[in-house]
This record gives sequence, structure tokens and C-alpha cells, in this order.
Amino acid sequence: WAIHHHAVIGSTNDEAVSLARDGAAHGEVVIADRQTAGRGRRGRVWASPPRVNLHLSAILRPKLPPQRAPELVAVVAVAAAETLRDLGVSAGIKWPNDLEAEGRKIAGILLDLSADAGRIHFVVAGIGINLNATRDDLPEELRGIATSVRQEVGAIVSRAEVAASLLAHLETWLDRFEEEGFAPVRSRYRELSSILGHPVRLTEPDRTLDGIAEEIDEAGALIVRLPDGGTERFLSGDVTSLR
Ligand code: BTN
Repeated sequence: WAIHHHAVIGSTNDEAVSLARDGAAHGEVVIADRQTAGRGRRGRVWASPPRVNLHLSAILRPKLPPQRAPELVAVVAVAAAETLRDLGVSAGIKWPNDLEAEGRKIAGILLDLSADAGRIHFVVAGIGINLNATRDDLPEELRGIATSVRQEVGAIVSRAEVAASLLAHLETWLDRFEEEGFAPVRSRYRELSSILGHPVRLTEPDRTLDGIAEEIDEAGALIVRLPDGGTERFLSGDVTSLR
């Protein structure tokens, strides 16, 4: 990994995308102490209270067709979940790539993809981990739904150490994915999942659907068992746990 560190930046993903467009290599990483325009999935804002969180974006150049991007999402989610577990957080993955602890969001992943029909040019894997925010650092509307490593384990953690650990886990899983394919990633992902076997609500732009999260298939898609006994398969979507 080659690290580009910034004190303040708009979004580490935007910076990494622009570096990748200019030819940056696989393994170049952008880290910022603070983001002023952090992006979440589906155009949402990723809040970034000063000095407390980890914002990291890694440029990857996998030799894969774009249809296999969901597998890469799972690789990153597994690496992030293992990083959190090493810190003593009982973190789980909420498909596709949210990390939660005790039902509250503790980290998020945003993949920006540049590809043509046949192959991926680059992927920017952006990871935001709530590290040292106290409840008071969080905006009112996030207090019930977000948490941080500090709130979960009762200690302040070092951003540099967490960044190093995350990159080590990411390297391990990227190597395994390249050598052995998706199967080992999928089996680890299923172990780390916080929703398998539980009732979920899937929200899509034009409909909402309730069921039981039944399986993550060999392409990284979520299989939901519907109340009428049938199943439906999702390659992307927004999940709420109904517990
Ligand atoms: C989500 O849960 O919606 C994804 C959040 C991803 C946030 C990270 S922080 C580092 C990187 N830079 C961004 O602008 N977003 C991602």
C-alpha cells in the first residue's frame, strides 16, 4: 500500500477516483483526518465530526468483469468486520456492506467503479469507521442509529493502528479472493452476517418488501424468503432489520 495522507479533504473517494483516472496504481490509498463532503451510498451524506473517525479509500485494479463487483464489496466488508472484531467490537455485516454493532451502524463502505462492459478499470473502495466519537459528537438524529468503537469498547483507539489493521485484512482477503475465488470470502461473509436467518425489510426506489434474509448466494446476492413461501434475489438494495 502507498498512502496519501490529508488533514482535510472533501471526500477520500473523490480524491482516489481522480488519482485513479490519472493512472494511480493498485494499492494507492487516500486517508484523511477529516472530510468536508463525505459521501454515503445512494447519494447520502457521510457525516464526519472533526478528528474522530477513519476515512480511507483504496484504489484497486482487479482483473474482473464488472458483474463481479458485488463479490468485491463482500471482500471489503469482511476485511472491515474483522478489523472491528479485532478491536473487541461485536461487529456484523448488514448486507450488502454496512457494519453494525448491537444494531447500530459503526462503519460504512462505498465502492466507486469505473468499468466498461468487459472489465473493471479500477475500483475505489471507500471505508468510513466511526472510531472515537462519543454520543455527544453525533448529530441528534444519528444517536439512536449510529455508534463508534469507543462507545462499544470504552476506550480510545488509534486511527493509524486501525488503518494499518484494515489494510492488512484487506490485503489478506484480496489475495485469497484472487487465488481461491469467491467461495472462502462468501463463507466468511456468511459467518459475519448480522441478518441471515432474521426478518428484514428491503427498500427499493419503487417498493418495499418484508421477508427473512435466507442466503448470500455465490454471486454475493441476497436471497429473501417471502411470506408467501417464494424467494426473491437482490443484487443491491437497502436493508432494515426487523427485530
Ligand atoms: C454508506 O454507509 O453509505 C457508505 C459510507 C462510506 C463513507 C466512506 S468515508 C471514506 C470514503 N469517502 C467518502 O466520501 N465516503 C467513503
